[in-house]
Amino acid sequence: MSEQSLVFPEGFWWGAAGAAHQVEGGNINSDSWLLEHVPGSPFTEPSGDACDHYHRYPTDIALLASLGFNTYRFSIEWARIEPEEGEFSFAALDHYRRVLAACHEHHLHPIVTYHHFTSPRWFAAKGGWEKPENAPLFARYCAKATAHLGDLIGAACTINEPNVGLLIQNMGHMPSDTMLANAPFRKAAAKAAGSDTFAAFPNCQQALARDSFLKGHTLAVEAIKSGPGNFPVGITLALSDHQAVPGGEATRDRVRSQVDDIFLDLARADDFVGVQTYSRTRYDANGPLGPEEGVERTLMGYEFWPEALEGTIRYVAGYTHKPVIVTENGIGTPDDTRRIEYVRRALAGVHRCITDGIKVDGYCYWSMFDNFEWSMGYRPTFGLIAVNRTTQARTVKPSAVWLGNIARANILKG
Ligand code: BGC
Repeated sequence: MSEQSLVFPEGFWWGAAGAAHQVEGGNINSDSWLLEHVPGSPFTEPSGDACDHYHRYPTDIALLASLGFNTYRFSIEWARIEPEEGEFSFAALDHYRRVLAACHEHHLHPIVTYHHFTSPRWFAAKGGWEKPENAPLFARYCAKATAHLGDLIGAACTINEPNVGLLIQNMGHMPSDTMLANAPFRKAAAKAAGSDTFAAFPNCQQALARDSFLKGHTLAVEAIKSGPGNFPVGITLALSDHQAVPGGEATRDRVRSQVDDIFLDLARADDFVGVQTYSRTRYDANGPLGPEEGVERTLMGYEFWPEALEGTIRYVAGYTHKPVIVTENGIGTPDDTRRIEYVRRALAGVHRCITDGIKVDGYCYWSMFDNFEWSMGYRPTFGLIAVNRTTQARTVKPSAVWLGNIARANILKG
């Protein structure tokens, strides 16, 4: 069979992604840091120095650009920018200004996420995302950050995956809200914070967080749009490709409506939808089925299913009629050849969507580095670039060179 050349639209955004808490290191004012250190912590290990990206961003950004990418998706950290309620750190804001300036210096479009799971400790100790009345506090931070950084931002994501807890709960991999509300680690964290509550996302009551996020997103868009800057603003969602086996259609549709559609309804008013997809979930009439026998699994335990991305892009575009940016897609694997295969097949799916007239503006691989994979610590390796946990030395994997070359050429040969 002759090799096909899949040409992507001119100006396509080719990126790698990361999140502050997962790469910066020393994020000590965040709710997650506290939870990582309480007895019975839901984390297998603390984030510690992470990838020390807070200090190493100039060389990291230069490296990403030198590989051929034209986009960098990263998050700014609320816990650094507002370490105490109402007290804003101009030093932290200046830091992110320098990160943005480095992106521009290296011709990388900066996609900025304002909230990637972590919040300041004080916010969690006030009930965090479990209290919709706290949502304006997030919007105030968004306004402050935009006032300082907006002129340099290329695109903005308000909240990263507000539906991820609902998704995992639906799959039976996360405790119920009642169990989360009474978890011993949560009580220990509240005590350490000198409060009677400690609601840190995603280890908090999902039904309550959902309502706050819906409100928080709308307020944040308004705050970010007040400028400066005139860039697209959207939300990013954790999207599994929900598939029904015969008889499972109604169950699948119910999950979709509770986990995805309520946020997609909101996204209809936005400039784009950030699609974040890793695998698929199958349903029969009783609920989600586990991975299918014989299908390869990734380090996360779910199926190696790169075609899931095409499925979710089609669903989102059909539902919202909005442009899509793939803000995350990737695989945790120790075998870099499987990473290349996964991305190759995922990108072929993106290209099929584009050919069918769906507006997909970019693709960001998750993640730039082997980084702190939340409760699972540093074990799952998603990165295009490996990081030595002692020396912080970076090692570029073959997949990074491979994907960077595709980005440079804007063509996937498949
Ligand atoms: C999150 C990332 C996470 C990735 C891989 C996404 O749900 O946005 O923070 O590391 O998936 O599990």
